[in-house]
Amino acid sequence: MTADAQAAFASYKDEALAAIASASSEDALELVRVEFLGKKRGRLKELQSLLGQADPEQRPLLGKSFNQVQAEVRGALEERQGVLARPVAAVAAIDVTLPGSQPVIGRRHPITKTMDDFKDIVGRMGFRVATGPELEDDHHNFVALNIPPEHPARDPLENFYLATALAGSGGDDAAVLMRSQTSTVQIRVMEQTAPPVRIVSLGRCYRPDTIDATHHCMFHQMEGLMVDTDVTMADLKTVLKHFATAFLGDDVSVRFRPSFFPFTEPSVEVDVLWRDRWLELGGAGMVDPNVLRHVGFDPEEVTGFAFGLGIERFCMMRYQVTDIRRFFENDVRFLSQF
Ligand code: DAH
Repeated sequence: MTADAQAAFASYKDEALAAIASASSEDALELVRVEFLGKKRGRLKELQSLLGQADPEQRPLLGKSFNQVQAEVRGALEERQGVLARPVAAVAAIDVTLPGSQPVIGRRHPITKTMDDFKDIVGRMGFRVATGPELEDDHHNFVALNIPPEHPARDPLENFYLATALAGSGGDDAAVLMRSQTSTVQIRVMEQTAPPVRIVSLGRCYRPDTIDATHHCMFHQMEGLMVDTDVTMADLKTVLKHFATAFLGDDVSVRFRPSFFPFTEPSVEVDVLWRDRWLELGGAGMVDPNVLRHVGFDPEEVTGFAFGLGIERFCMMRYQVTDIRRFFENDVRFLSQF
């Protein structure tokens, strides 16, 4: 009789634990609870009657195992209840491969989001993403971009030169500065790659501008460069029109205004007509033959276009942010809105 009772306890326990583990909802678990722990009918009742039939001297021992088994099953049930009561989304969002203990906290910065969107759009047109250093030399920031020593853009007051002794408008190739534009990456890519080239480069630029609602000493640009055997301004306009239409969500018109940049010839300022307003997109043009020569390309063989767009302005437009400083203050009350 004792052995029978012990065997019955053991199989009760195994079945109960298996049923608890496989209950996949709180409702299913409740049915398991009624079956195995219910007071009125249920399996527990059967075991109790076995206990009642046991010899009186064996009863204390059997009673003890009965209590143990019951406690174990109840404990497993409560644990499973805790797991099933957790919201599904929270359980599903936990990716154990992510670092840190609270991976669901945090989000992308609006500037990062905008840059990711830009990369998606131009990526569909075959532009690969290239990167370059933020700490640059005179050669990549100016010389190779056909910016002559006396050009005002090289003025020490217009740039963050790091080695002040070497800085200045003297065009010293050893000078080091925080890059003032992403056009530097055009040079770095062409130095490393034979044509055809089709890249964009997105990142930070630095200029000692007076900080106000629309200017900052650090900002982001997207540079684009395409070089091939017969690239024309029509290609430039098509790419920019597709880009602006994809980002702004409306079929926009693109307008070129004559301009000047040392590294493009001809050069243009690009505007888009969006919801009855002309918005400035940035600068662009056909890559100057001098720039192509500087990186060892033959301007008789290849042509190219380039463009440089400010990223903050797009981001401000899209999210209706009126002050550029908000992006860089790291105030969670601002950032958590995106
Ligand atoms: N680098 C220029 C700036 O920061 C913008 C620019 C203009 C980039 C024309 C280009 C370009 O690639 O072709 O003002």
